[in-house]
Amino acid sequence: MTRKPDKTKPPRHQRWEGKEKPDWLSRALARAGVFPQDEAEAAINAGRVSINGRVAKMALAPVPPGATVRVDGRVIELSAPTTRVLAFHKPAGVLSSTARQHRTGTVFEVLLPQLPTDLAGYTWHAVGRLDVDSTGLLLFTNDDKFVAHATSPDTRLPKRYVATVFSTADDARVEPLRKGMTLDDGPARPAQVRVRDEHTVEVTLTEGRHHQVKRMLGAVGLPVRALHREAVGSVDLLDIPEGTFRLLTDEEVREGLRYEGRAAAAEPQD
Ligand code: URA
Repeated sequence: MTRKPDKTKPPRHQRWEGKEKPDWLSRALARAGVFPQDEAEAAINAGRVSINGRVAKMALAPVPPGATVRVDGRVIELSAPTTRVLAFHKPAGVLSSTARQHRTGTVFEVLLPQLPTDLAGYTWHAVGRLDVDSTGLLLFTNDDKFVAHATSPDTRLPKRYVATVFSTADDARVEPLRKGMTLDDGPARPAQVRVRDEHTVEVTLTEGRHHQVKRMLGAVGLPVRALHREAVGSVDLLDIPEGTFRLLTDEEVREGLRYEGRAAAAEPQD
Protein backbone atom coordinates (compact mmCIF):
# COMPACT_ATOMS: atom_id res chain seq x y z
CA MET A 1 0.00 0.00 0.00
CA THR A 2 1.43 3.40 -0.91
CA ARG A 3 1.06 6.12 1.71
CA LYS A 4 -0.53 9.39 0.65
CA PRO A 5 1.60 12.44 1.43
CA ASP A 6 0.47 14.21 4.61
CA LYS A 7 -0.47 17.68 3.35
CA THR A 8 -0.74 19.02 6.90
CA LYS A 9 3.08 18.73 7.31
CA PRO A 10 5.71 20.73 5.40
CA PRO A 11 8.09 18.63 3.26
CA ARG A 12 10.82 16.94 5.31
CA HIS A 13 13.60 19.30 4.15
CA GLN A 14 11.63 22.34 5.36
CA ARG A 15 10.44 20.86 8.65
CA TRP A 16 13.31 22.16 10.80
CA GLU A 17 13.76 25.51 9.07
CA GLY A 18 14.26 28.22 11.67
CA LYS A 19 14.08 25.62 14.47
CA GLU A 20 16.63 23.68 16.37
CA LYS A 21 17.40 20.51 14.37
CA PRO A 22 17.24 17.19 16.21
CA ASP A 23 20.58 15.61 17.01
CA TRP A 24 20.97 11.87 16.60
CA LEU A 25 20.92 9.82 19.75
CA SER A 26 24.48 8.51 20.10
CA ARG A 27 25.93 11.91 19.25
CA ALA A 28 23.60 13.71 21.66
CA LEU A 29 24.68 11.37 24.47
CA ALA A 30 28.35 11.88 23.63
CA ARG A 31 28.01 15.67 23.45
CA ALA A 32 26.29 15.73 26.81
CA GLY A 33 29.18 13.81 28.31
CA VAL A 34 27.11 10.76 29.18
CA PHE A 35 29.22 8.31 27.17
CA PRO A 36 31.85 8.50 24.43
CA GLN A 37 30.06 7.85 21.14
CA ASP A 38 31.12 4.21 20.74
CA GLU A 39 29.91 3.40 24.26
CA ALA A 40 26.66 5.27 23.56
CA GLU A 41 26.08 3.01 20.56
CA ALA A 42 26.71 -0.07 22.70
CA ALA A 43 24.27 1.18 25.36
CA ILE A 44 21.59 1.81 22.69
CA ASN A 45 22.13 -1.64 21.19
CA ALA A 46 21.75 -3.12 24.68
CA GLY A 47 18.31 -1.43 25.03
CA ARG A 48 19.42 0.82 27.91
CA VAL A 49 18.31 4.10 26.31
CA SER A 50 14.80 5.46 25.77
CA ILE A 51 13.38 8.55 24.07
CA ASN A 52 10.04 9.80 25.40
CA GLY A 53 9.40 6.48 27.12
CA ARG A 54 10.21 4.20 24.15
CA VAL A 55 13.33 2.09 24.03
CA ALA A 56 15.52 3.47 21.26
CA LYS A 57 16.81 0.87 18.85
CA MET A 58 19.01 2.97 16.61
CA ALA A 59 22.07 5.10 17.33
CA LEU A 60 20.91 7.43 14.54
CA ALA A 61 17.43 7.92 16.01
CA PRO A 62 16.62 11.67 16.00
CA VAL A 63 16.25 13.32 19.40
CA PRO A 64 13.68 16.10 18.98
CA PRO A 65 14.26 19.26 21.04
CA GLY A 66 12.64 18.87 24.45
CA ALA A 67 12.56 15.05 24.29
CA THR A 68 13.04 13.11 27.53
CA VAL A 69 15.96 10.74 27.17
CA ARG A 70 16.66 8.13 29.84
CA VAL A 71 19.64 5.85 30.32
CA ASP A 72 18.92 2.90 32.60
CA GLY A 73 15.75 4.76 33.60
CA ARG A 74 17.58 7.93 34.67
CA VAL A 75 16.67 11.20 32.92
CA ILE A 76 19.61 12.74 31.08
CA GLU A 77 20.18 16.49 30.61
CA LEU A 78 21.06 16.80 26.92
CA SER A 79 21.84 20.48 26.61
CA ALA A 80 25.35 21.26 25.32
CA PRO A 81 27.79 20.64 28.15
CA THR A 82 30.10 23.22 29.66
CA THR A 83 33.31 23.72 27.69
CA ARG A 84 36.05 21.74 29.37
CA VAL A 85 39.72 22.10 28.56
CA LEU A 86 42.48 19.86 29.88
CA ALA A 87 46.15 20.78 29.98
CA PHE A 88 48.10 17.58 29.32
CA HIS A 89 51.88 17.18 29.61
CA LYS A 90 52.78 15.16 26.54
CA PRO A 91 55.73 12.84 27.01
CA ALA A 92 58.17 12.14 24.16
CA GLY A 93 57.47 9.08 22.03
CA VAL A 94 53.66 9.22 21.91
CA LEU A 95 51.77 10.29 18.81
CA SER A 96 49.46 13.31 18.80
CA SER A 97 46.36 12.23 16.93
CA THR A 98 43.62 14.82 16.80
CA ALA A 99 40.73 12.38 17.12
CA ARG A 100 40.12 9.55 19.50
CA GLN A 101 41.38 6.61 17.51
CA HIS A 102 41.70 2.95 18.22
CA ARG A 103 45.44 3.11 17.70
CA THR A 104 48.16 2.33 20.10
CA GLY A 105 50.88 4.75 21.06
CA THR A 106 48.75 7.91 20.92
CA VAL A 107 48.20 10.62 23.49
CA PHE A 108 44.65 9.32 23.98
CA GLU A 109 46.02 6.04 25.22
CA VAL A 110 47.91 7.89 27.95
CA LEU A 111 45.20 10.43 28.83
CA LEU A 112 41.86 8.60 28.72
CA PRO A 113 42.50 5.95 31.38
CA GLN A 114 43.31 8.71 33.90
CA LEU A 115 40.06 10.65 33.52
CA PRO A 116 37.73 10.68 36.52
CA THR A 117 34.13 9.58 35.91
CA ASP A 118 32.81 13.16 35.61
CA LEU A 119 35.16 13.74 32.63
CA ALA A 120 35.31 10.25 31.14
CA GLY A 121 31.99 10.44 29.29
CA TYR A 122 32.94 13.30 26.95
CA THR A 123 34.32 12.92 23.47
CA TRP A 124 37.76 14.54 23.72
CA HIS A 125 39.57 16.32 20.91
CA ALA A 126 43.27 17.17 20.91
CA VAL A 127 43.84 20.84 20.16
CA GLY A 128 46.49 20.81 17.43
CA ARG A 129 49.51 18.54 17.55
CA LEU A 130 53.00 18.15 18.84
CA ASP A 131 55.57 16.05 16.96
CA VAL A 132 56.09 12.57 18.34
CA ASP A 133 59.47 13.53 19.85
CA SER A 134 58.22 16.91 21.21
CA THR A 135 57.09 17.24 24.80
CA GLY A 136 54.98 19.71 26.72
CA LEU A 137 51.59 21.34 26.81
CA LEU A 138 48.89 19.79 24.65
CA LEU A 139 45.31 20.91 25.24
CA PHE A 140 42.27 18.66 24.97
CA THR A 141 38.65 19.76 24.87
CA ASN A 142 35.10 18.44 24.65
CA ASP A 143 34.10 21.49 22.52
CA ASP A 144 34.95 21.26 18.82
CA LYS A 145 34.43 25.02 18.43
CA PHE A 146 37.25 25.55 20.90
CA VAL A 147 39.55 23.47 18.65
CA ALA A 148 38.75 25.77 15.72
CA HIS A 149 39.28 28.85 17.90
CA ALA A 150 42.61 27.81 19.37
CA THR A 151 44.14 26.44 16.18
CA SER A 152 43.06 29.22 13.82
CA PRO A 153 45.95 31.53 12.86
CA ASP A 154 43.40 34.37 13.04
CA THR A 155 43.11 33.93 16.82
CA ARG A 156 46.87 34.60 17.15
CA LEU A 157 47.04 32.65 20.37
CA PRO A 158 50.73 32.63 21.32
CA LYS A 159 52.43 29.26 21.73
CA ARG A 160 55.73 29.31 23.60
CA TYR A 161 58.35 26.66 22.82
CA VAL A 162 61.79 25.98 24.19
CA ALA A 163 64.20 24.38 21.74
CA THR A 164 67.49 22.75 22.60
CA VAL A 165 69.69 23.26 19.56
CA PHE A 166 72.83 21.55 18.30
CA SER A 167 74.98 24.51 17.26
CA THR A 168 75.59 27.79 19.01
CA ALA A 169 72.72 30.27 19.19
CA ASP A 170 73.06 34.01 19.52
CA ASP A 171 70.91 37.04 18.76
CA ALA A 172 72.37 37.64 15.30
CA ARG A 173 71.59 34.09 14.23
CA VAL A 174 67.94 34.13 15.34
CA GLU A 175 67.24 37.61 13.92
CA PRO A 176 65.56 36.27 10.73
CA LEU A 177 62.92 34.55 12.94
CA ARG A 178 62.14 37.89 14.56
CA LYS A 179 61.88 39.67 11.22
CA GLY A 180 59.66 37.02 9.62
CA MET A 181 61.16 34.47 7.28
CA THR A 182 59.90 32.59 4.26
CA LEU A 183 59.51 28.84 4.67
CA ASP A 184 58.85 26.38 1.86
CA ASP A 185 55.08 26.67 2.52
CA GLY A 186 55.06 30.48 2.54
CA PRO A 187 55.97 33.39 4.80
CA ALA A 188 56.03 32.86 8.57
CA ARG A 189 54.90 35.61 10.90
CA PRO A 190 57.59 37.33 12.94
CA ALA A 191 58.23 35.30 16.09
CA GLN A 192 59.29 36.43 19.53
CA VAL A 193 62.67 34.87 20.20
CA ARG A 194 64.84 34.86 23.29
CA VAL A 195 68.21 33.18 23.45
CA ARG A 196 68.28 31.71 26.96
CA ASP A 197 71.77 30.28 26.57
CA GLU A 198 73.88 29.16 23.63
CA HIS A 199 71.97 25.88 23.23
CA THR A 200 68.54 26.97 24.41
CA VAL A 201 66.20 29.18 22.39
CA GLU A 202 62.69 30.26 23.37
CA VAL A 203 60.38 30.83 20.39
CA THR A 204 56.82 32.16 20.62
CA LEU A 205 54.59 31.74 17.55
CA THR A 206 51.09 32.96 16.83
CA GLU A 207 50.45 30.31 14.17
CA GLY A 208 51.07 26.58 14.11
CA ARG A 209 52.30 25.01 10.92
CA HIS A 210 53.78 21.56 10.51
CA HIS A 211 57.23 21.32 12.18
CA GLN A 212 57.30 25.10 12.21
CA VAL A 213 59.76 25.70 15.04
CA LYS A 214 62.15 23.02 13.77
CA ARG A 215 62.00 24.41 10.25
CA MET A 216 62.56 28.01 11.34
CA LEU A 217 65.53 27.19 13.54
CA GLY A 218 66.90 24.70 11.01
CA ALA A 219 66.83 27.44 8.36
CA VAL A 220 69.22 29.58 10.41
CA GLY A 221 71.62 26.72 11.09
CA LEU A 222 70.26 25.71 14.50
CA PRO A 223 68.96 22.14 14.11
CA VAL A 224 66.66 21.20 16.97
CA ARG A 225 67.70 18.41 19.31
CA ALA A 226 64.66 18.61 21.62
CA LEU A 227 61.49 20.69 21.61
CA HIS A 228 59.18 21.43 24.51
CA ARG A 229 55.99 23.56 24.57
CA GLU A 230 55.75 25.54 27.78
CA ALA A 231 52.62 27.62 27.26
CA VAL A 232 49.58 28.28 25.07
CA GLY A 233 48.03 31.71 25.53
CA SER A 234 48.76 32.49 29.15
CA VAL A 235 48.22 28.90 30.27
CA ASP A 236 51.53 27.51 31.45
CA LEU A 237 52.45 23.86 31.84
CA LEU A 238 54.17 24.69 35.13
CA ASP A 239 54.12 21.78 37.52
CA ILE A 240 51.94 19.25 35.68
CA PRO A 241 54.03 16.06 35.80
CA GLU A 242 54.84 14.39 32.47
CA GLY A 243 52.04 12.14 31.22
CA THR A 244 49.39 13.71 33.48
CA PHE A 245 46.80 16.46 33.07
CA ARG A 246 44.99 19.26 34.88
CA LEU A 247 41.45 20.54 34.24
CA LEU A 248 41.61 24.26 33.47
CA THR A 249 39.31 26.65 35.28
CA ASP A 250 36.62 28.62 33.41
CA GLU A 251 38.69 31.74 34.02
CA GLU A 252 41.80 30.19 32.45
CA VAL A 253 39.75 29.22 29.39
CA ARG A 254 38.13 32.66 29.15
CA GLU A 255 41.12 34.83 29.91
CA GLY A 256 44.15 32.65 29.28
CA LEU A 257 42.82 31.16 26.05
CA ARG A 258 40.46 33.99 25.05
CA TYR A 259 37.43 31.74 24.70
CA GLU A 260 33.99 32.47 26.06
CA GLY A 261 32.91 28.83 25.96
CA ARG A 262 29.58 27.44 27.00
CA ALA A 263 28.04 28.18 30.35
CA ALA A 264 27.79 25.52 33.01
CA ALA A 265 25.03 23.05 32.18
CA ALA A 266 22.37 22.09 34.73
CA GLU A 267 23.04 18.88 36.61
CA PRO A 268 21.07 15.92 35.27
CA GLN A 269 17.91 15.28 37.30
CA ASP A 270 16.57 11.93 38.41
N1 URA B 1 56.95 23.05 15.89
C1 URA B 1 57.65 21.92 15.63
O1 URA B 1 58.59 21.92 14.85
N2 URA B 1 57.26 20.79 16.26
C2 URA B 1 56.27 20.73 17.15
O2 URA B 1 56.00 19.67 17.71
C3 URA B 1 55.56 21.92 17.42
C4 URA B 1 55.93 23.07 16.76
